[in-house]
Amino acid sequence: MLVKTTPGWFLPENEATPEIIFWNRRDFSKRVAAGTLLGTTGISLGKKLCVSTGYAAEGPLSNLFPAPTNDLYVLDRPLTPERLVTTYNNFFEFGSHKNVWKSAMRLPLQPWQLRLDGLVEKPITLSADELIQKMGLEERLLRHRCVEAWSIAVPWTGFPLKSLVDMARPLSGAKYLKMTGFDLPDIAPGQRQTWLPWPYVEGLTINEAVNEMSMLVVGAYGKPLPHQNGAPLRLIVPWKYGFKSIKSIQQFTFTDERPVNFWQEIASKEYGFWANVNPQIPHPRWSQSTEKMLGSNERVPTQLYNGYGEFVAHLYADLKNESLYM
Ligand code: MTE
Repeated sequence: MLVKTTPGWFLPENEATPEIIFWNRRDFSKRVAAGTLLGTTGISLGKKLCVSTGYAAEGPLSNLFPAPTNDLYVLDRPLTPERLVTTYNNFFEFGSHKNVWKSAMRLPLQPWQLRLDGLVEKPITLSADELIQKMGLEERLLRHRCVEAWSIAVPWTGFPLKSLVDMARPLSGAKYLKMTGFDLPDIAPGQRQTWLPWPYVEGLTINEAVNEMSMLVVGAYGKPLPHQNGAPLRLIVPWKYGFKSIKSIQQFTFTDERPVNFWQEIASKEYGFWANVNPQIPHPRWSQSTEKMLGSNERVPTQLYNGYGEFVAHLYADLKNESLYM
């Protein structure tokens, strides 16, 4: 007999992702104007949790794992069970729901060419494997706070984004780093929703990019990163809402123009460039004061900068007039 239960971390409708992906652009604009966009989310993991979530574990990089842990980053909560982190995902390229892990496995990771360009001494093209092999990997145990008010705590493996910035040798005029994902509509069904501004784009200031907390992640739970978590290479900026942590990056462009990110392009009244976590600044449609920890029944208070203020607050000292928290 099938018994339907609601997982402890089920997110009520008013605390979830914007549903824009479900609407075509015209319909969406009408709804925004009428203020009627509501999110829905929450999937019944149930059966899915019994199925292997298929890591790209065997590969040229598997000998780099597990990497030593950097003890500077200490968690205030238990790690989220790996099964949840690998089966409850936001990866809109593969759909607007959380159950994308199987579909994401269709993304071909070999070869994965990366391009470092824009305001740099000389553009560089290299494969993700080449890059990863050049970098010393470390593990960091970090909180991740989605703008939808759920959170996870994950042992990520990767290297400081600063190492990539140093390798690119940006010119003095470079003020921002724009990161761009893939554009493969034949493989990724979400990218066939052509009214969305694909590919996924995110950006940081150069100061943010070279901050010690900004990390390029290539693994989780001591293994190479699963497709659905952003293989082969994603950003993790844990003091910002999760949408800033772009997955499956292909291009790093140094620029003097502030990049407009994917979500900002879709709904600039709801999502901005900075997106620093702040429990006191509500999203226009829901509170950000607490968060549901996936895998637990607990709702805990959200912390300013997701608790990482000691590492990053100084970056914003002179930017009081900016919308730092959306
Ligand atoms: N990156 C890409 N390319 N596409 C996405 O849809 N979603 C973002 C972020 N990076 C997203 C992305 C959001 S909203 C969140 S919360 C995190 O990825 C989720 O990461 P996770 O699935 O590994 O938990």
